[in-house]
Amino acid sequence: MGVLKHYRELLPVTDKTPAVNLEEGMTPLIYLPRVSERLGIKLYGKFEGCNPSGSFKDRGMVLAVAKALEEGKRAVICASTGNTSASAAAYAASQGIPCFVLLPAGKVALGKLAQALMYGAKVIAVKGNFDRALELARDGAEKTGCAMVNSVNPYRLIGQRSGAWEICDVLGHAPDWHAIPVGNAGNISAYWAGYNEYHKLGKINALPKMMGFQAEGAAPLVYNKPCPNPETIATAIRIGNPVSAHLARAAVSESGGEFNAVTDEQILEAQRILAAEGGVFAEPASCAPLAGLLKLKRSGRLPEGITVTMILTGNGLKDPDTAMSQVGRPIEINDTLDDLMRVLEGK
Ligand code: F0G
Repeated sequence: MGVLKHYRELLPVTDKTPAVNLEEGMTPLIYLPRVSERLGIKLYGKFEGCNPSGSFKDRGMVLAVAKALEEGKRAVICASTGNTSASAAAYAASQGIPCFVLLPAGKVALGKLAQALMYGAKVIAVKGNFDRALELARDGAEKTGCAMVNSVNPYRLIGQRSGAWEICDVLGHAPDWHAIPVGNAGNISAYWAGYNEYHKLGKINALPKMMGFQAEGAAPLVYNKPCPNPETIATAIRIGNPVSAHLARAAVSESGGEFNAVTDEQILEAQRILAAEGGVFAEPASCAPLAGLLKLKRSGRLPEGITVTMILTGNGLKDPDTAMSQVGRPIEINDTLDDLMRVLEGK
């Protein structure tokens, strides 16, 4: 059905808003029994990798592109660590309008780059980091009148609230903790707004603690200062100066949650655990929350038995290089039953 139709009454959608739709949203909220047991909690992963472009960005992009068209804009522009560009390019393609994407050169996962190019976007690799690319994109939008579809576009965050609504619709209540990776800090802010809206409407009677996880090398919100040279294997959240920092801080403090940092090693460990014990393959940035929960468990700070939802923001297939760098190679055999039996019998 798509986000615009499913949550029409909660979104700024009118009869004049074009019915943009790639069947985004309604992603599975997956209970993870083995990982839950390891942590002593009830853990659900909301697998945003099932969205049409493979990340949560589609929830807000569908609204941003629809409103841009409604306002008469005829091209879109964004800066991105990869997923926003894939999403913007997909929706622009579906509407037949040009899309310009600015990426930090050499720092975008292969699958995301392939997506933007396949969807037909004009892909511009900026010799600088994401934060600089975002400044350039904003200036470019101002000079050309292209619609800016980063999360500074208010419709992006409004659309992304739908993730919180879906969680509550499925669980029948809010989780105790909401664990989420934080990069440019839009999604944590959108989820908090979404939960609050449902609370005001009386659809839930308690709010979750918002737990935001950043990579150690790109953790401006954890350490409370911009990080001029962000660095992490989780390239999606390789961001030093988040534009929605103020909103994210408010979400965390109002909810009684916290920001926490995890190392690249912890992120990769969590990615393997999620895949091998959960059956879900999410990209590295998406595994920062699980890395954080494991860290809190080790330090005795994870309350027993609570319900936690973590947002698995992007599909693991987007970044095959990082995955392959940490797993073994296939076992190669000759095409004989003898060779096969040796492997099956563990010899
Ligand atoms: N997880 C993934 C997979 C992401 O792609 C992003 C952000 C985040 C988490 C963080 O979300 O920025 O709302 O705090 N990706 C952006 C992009 C920056 O350009 O694709 P946030």
